Amino acid sequence: MPAVVDLRSDTVTLPTPGMRKAMARAKVGDSRRGEDPSVRALEEYCAGLFGKEGGLFVPSGTMGNLCAACAWTRPGEMIVASSASHIAGRESPAVSLLASVAIIGIDAPGGIFTAEDVAAAVAPAPARNESRVGLVTAENTHNAGGGTVFPLAALKRIRSFCGKTRIPLHIDGSRIFNASVASGTPPAAYGKVSDSLMFCLSKGLGAPVGSILVGTRGFLSEARGVALRIGGGMRQAGIVAAGGLYALKHNVPRLAEDHGNAAALAEGLDGIPGVEVVNAPVETNIVLFRWETPSLDLPAFRERLADRRVLLDDRAFPLFRAVTHLGIGKREIARAMRAFREVFVGGAVRP
Ligand SMILES: Cc1ncc(COP(=O)(O)O)c(C=O)c1O
Repeated sequence: MPAVVDLRSDTVTLPTPGMRKAMARAKVGDSRRGEDPSVRALEEYCAGLFGKEGGLFVPSGTMGNLCAACAWTRPGEMIVASSASHIAGRESPAVSLLASVAIIGIDAPGGIFTAEDVAAAVAPAPARNESRVGLVTAENTHNAGGGTVFPLAALKRIRSFCGKTRIPLHIDGSRIFNASVASGTPPAAYGKVSDSLMFCLSKGLGAPVGSILVGTRGFLSEARGVALRIGGGMRQAGIVAAGGLYALKHNVPRLAEDHGNAAALAEGLDGIPGVEVVNAPVETNIVLFRWETPSLDLPAFRERLADRRVLLDDRAFPLFRAVTHLGIGKREIARAMRAFREVFVGGAVRP
């Protein structure tokens, strides 16, 4: 039986043999005491990549953003973010609970907002004696926007506005290396335009666990305190940190292949009658597409696709998300396309 073509997310990757070897060899210690050499090596490497004073290895992107939100804001303040961003959606209950802040959402095409949008979101507070905005976050690439790249020029203008109004800018860079590879922007340029930045090792980079928060020593000392208070203190975490370091050293340039495969998928989908690619032209590794006149309901659709051993993110049926990653090559794209043609073109039957 052929392997499953899993396009649900770039979080489904499995560690490669080389990565597993690096993990098995990792020198470890009690990371909570600052004694794990592999964690320290990873944090230092990441700080260097982004031109920041330090890094903090945390178990997940959610925890990285939460630590940043708690470290930068005071209770009663507000955070400005794209309304479709991960922090304004899935993470907002925990951010509201633990940082005691509200999130003001900006509606922007593809999740890419401007300095003027931020100014408009920040302006009413002093005039109406409302809560102060304590943090702006920009998601790069923007997941729900379809893997859109936040242009560096837009980030620079936002940072300049934030600097004048003394509001820190945090980048949720879960997929920052996709942005970097797609736009040819070095990671340090993103580090330069932000006060803090979080990125995930366990998405396109293909490591099994973890995210990194980079910033100044002062910010990281606050963020580390938050991570420890919410149970993010890890012990011999060097085993997974070594997977992260391996991913950074081996899996960054290959993200261009994921982008090429996503573009090929989008082109193929666009040729299927009744299917519309929503985020054309696809910028990175995420394809959003809609089945305009579904002839199956969700359970039947899932069954037909699963029969053909293809998985998609179908939570917003009939809008779908397909994400390419290191488990997806040209062969898998061809298999997925065959399954899509059979299922989306009316009258698909079980094979
Ligand atoms: C843009 C963005 N931010 C944050 C996260 C949260 O990362 P994690 O799943 O590691 O908690 C995700 C996860 O998909 C994401 O897409």
